[in-house]
Amino acid sequence: MTLEHIQESVNFIHKQGITIPETGIILGTGLAKLVDEIDIQRVINYEDIPHFVTATLESHAGKLIFGTIEDKNVVVMSGRFHAYEGYSFNEITYGVRVMQALGIEQLLITNAAGAVNLGFNKGELMLIDDHINLQGGSPLAFKNAKDFGNIFVDMSAPYHKNLNTKIEEIAHINNINLHKGVYASVVGPQLETRAEYRYLKTIGADAVGMSTVPEVIVANQLALPCVAISVLTDECDPDNLKPINIPEIFEMAAKAEPQLTILFKELLKTL
Ligand code: HPA
Repeated sequence: MTLEHIQESVNFIHKQGITIPETGIILGTGLAKLVDEIDIQRVINYEDIPHFVTATLESHAGKLIFGTIEDKNVVVMSGRFHAYEGYSFNEITYGVRVMQALGIEQLLITNAAGAVNLGFNKGELMLIDDHINLQGGSPLAFKNAKDFGNIFVDMSAPYHKNLNTKIEEIAHINNINLHKGVYASVVGPQLETRAEYRYLKTIGADAVGMSTVPEVIVANQLALPCVAISVLTDECDPDNLKPINIPEIFEMAAKAEPQLTILFKELLKTL
C-alpha cells in the first residue's frame, strides 16, 4: 500500500460525481439497517475502486454508499474486513484511509460484540471508551507506514471525548440504555473459551469482538475523530457458558439496531 494507491482510489471516487462527505460510517456484522436511513446519491462497489479490497462474506455487501442522513453528507462502508477472513491490517484499514483522504471529519463505527461484563445484557449497546488490542499486530507496522504520518501514535484517548459525551447525552434524552466500557479485539473467528473469557474480564475488558481496533488505530494516526458503539449480542459468562448461537447473534444485532440508528441520526444532527 502506498499513498499513490490511496490517491488513485480517491480520484476514481471523485470521478463518480460524489459530494464530499463530512462523516464516514463503518457498519458492523448484522448492522446494515442504517443504510435505509441514507438518502442515497451514489453507490460504488468496492470491486470497482482501484486498489480497494473486495469483501468475502454475504453479510458484508461491499459497497461505499454516498448520500445524506439528516441532511448531512455521509459515506457509509457497508461491508468491512476482518483479520479472521485472512486480510492484512492494511487491507482492513484501507477504507478508513480512503474516507479520510476524501475529506471526512469524523468516523462512526459499529460492531457486534460479546458482553464480558456480566452487568451488561445481550441486546444492549455499549459505547466504546477504550480498547485492548489482542489482534497480535498493528495497522501501523509496515515498511512505508511513515509515509502516512507519525507511527508512534498517541492512544491516550482513542475515542473522541466530545463526540462520546454527545452520544451519551443523546442516549439519555432518548431513554436508551447505553453502557460505556472497554472493547477487546481478538482475531477470531472461533469464539472464546471459558478460560479466555475469564482472562478478558481480568484484564479489564467489558466486551469482546473481532473488529474495530485496527480502524480506530489508523483513524488516530490520521487525527480523525472517531467513536464506536458495540451491540452486545451474547453474554460471555465463563461459569455458565452455553454453546454459541450464531442466529441469535444476528437476532440481537437486529433488536438493538433501531436504538443505534437513533444515536447516529441524532449525533449527525449536531455535527
Ligand atoms: N466473542 C468474540 N466476538 C464476538 C462475540 C464474542 O462473544 N460476540 C460477537 N462477536
